[in-house]
Amino acid sequence: MVFLREGLCPGLSEELVHALRTKDIRTVEDLISSDTEEIAQKCCVSYKALVAVRRVLLAQHAAFPVSGADLYDDLLSSTAILSTGNASLDKLLDSGLYTGELTELVGAPGSGKTQVCFGVAANLSCELKQSVLYIDSSGGLSATRLLQMVKAKTSNMEEQMEALQRIQVSQVFDVFSLLECLHSLKGGGFQQASSGGGTPKVIIVDSITAVLSHILGGKQTEGMSLMMQVAGELRTIAKDLNVAVLVTNHVTRDSNGLPKAGLGLSWSHVPRTRILLQRVEKPGCTQSGLRTATLIKSSRQPCYLTQEFDLSSWGEALDELPGSSGKRKLGDDDL
Ligand SMILES: Nc1ncnc2c1ncn2[C@@H]1O[C@H](COP(=O)(O)OP(=O)(O)OP(=O)(O)O)[C@@H](O)[C@H]1O
Ligand SMILES: [Mg+2]
Repeated sequence: MVFLREGLCPGLSEELVHALRTKDIRTVEDLISSDTEEIAQKCCVSYKALVAVRRVLLAQHAAFPVSGADLYDDLLSSTAILSTGNASLDKLLDSGLYTGELTELVGAPGSGKTQVCFGVAANLSCELKQSVLYIDSSGGLSATRLLQMVKAKTSNMEEQMEALQRIQVSQVFDVFSLLECLHSLKGGGFQQASSGGGTPKVIIVDSITAVLSHILGGKQTEGMSLMMQVAGELRTIAKDLNVAVLVTNHVTRDSNGLPKAGLGLSWSHVPRTRILLQRVEKPGCTQSGLRTATLIKSSRQPCYLTQEFDLSSWGEALDELPGSSGKRKLGDDDL
């Protein structure tokens, strides 16, 4: 899917793009599949100009076969591989998160999905000086833990604040606000809001399950269609904006009692790479940060490669956090 923008083809002016957007015609696909006469009337634009633009776009964007060599050139020129900041995960991911692709972390509650997302965000913003969009749909975001991780990378307070500023957080609690957030991202909303690092290189959705699981199941075909809409938006954003998308998902058990990713078969085709996180159980130790990461879906590496890592490798808990001395218990005055 290609977004309509000024100069995409001769005749596609800024005014025309703007007029089309007001009627929700945002992509080449939207324009091609709509009735030209109707759009011309609705958007108050010249029918002739629209027909000319449509003809050129059709010629430019028809699905012509591309050679493997061209695809490889494209990959070399546009794909970036972004380190997660954790050597074990980078090994499983064949060096890191790839732009243009969707990577999924799956695991049981407490397996460390959110911690890994924080670690990736901190590494991207601090080490690679890139912007991150963190879509928090489970309410699990902790600014203090993010700061711990940033502090583990730099002791310079100015750099710490700059790094935190490059992490834009969007809180969404249902599928509609998630879709709205993704639409605004496509429309350039995030670029205006971000300071310093420019367009995001990584978009994190923690968790995708929180907004999708309850609308699925039974005869809820609408839920399935919304899920595939989210999938389509995420894949389009990854490709068109050339960003890496990282989502988290929960696990269920298959008939043999083995863990499998949630959200079913249709969703299973959405991520290109999938990693299963599991706790490492140690007798007598309930709070260990040790985890295993197992590659359960990949088109680059053999599956079932496993690596062990420690969640605290991204930064130990701090004794004293900013403002923590001012923390107080809820008392009668608050009620
Ligand atoms: N500073 C830290 N160092 C090591 N481990 C930590 C640290 N902070 C939290 N943890 C561990 O991380 C775990 C929580 O992980 P996290 O919240 O990432 O799980 P999750 O997979 O996102 O769970 P959910 O599915 O409920 O969202 C806890 O077991 C906690 O012990
Ligand atoms: Mg979580």
